[in-house]
Amino acid sequence: MVKRFGVSMDVDLLNRFDLFIKKYGYKNRSEALREIIRERLIDETVKNEDDVSFGTIVIVYDHEIDEVNDKLVDLQHEYTGLIIFSTHIHVDRRNCIENIVVKGKNRDISSLAQRLRTVEGVSSVKLLLTNYTYM
Ligand code: NI
Repeated sequence: MVKRFGVSMDVDLLNRFDLFIKKYGYKNRSEALREIIRERLIDETVKNEDDVSFGTIVIVYDHEIDEVNDKLVDLQHEYTGLIIFSTHIHVDRRNCIENIVVKGKNRDISSLAQRLRTVEGVSSVKLLLTNYTYM
């Protein structure tokens, strides 16, 4: 069921919103608002530790640091129920990027991301979570 509602807004803010709509090719204000609201609600949901999300963890590390590869493999084996797959890219002589795709409770995904951050040789850990609750 679709319901209509009115929105009051400052004119300047509305003008900026219309420019945003044009820039990103939304059909109309309703479509843009729905998308923005969904994104914001998803951002809230992924904060709930017991909710399930899909996500990707992208890590950058220096493979020449002692035992970093072994540590990363051991750690990922501890989370086999969480990890769907991972890909490895050899970026240059020293640096590697690994993309770890996960599905599971936000608590467990955060735990894995945090533990990856503490591995010596890992210089960056980025986590992106989403879900289909509001589709
Ligand atoms: Ni590599």
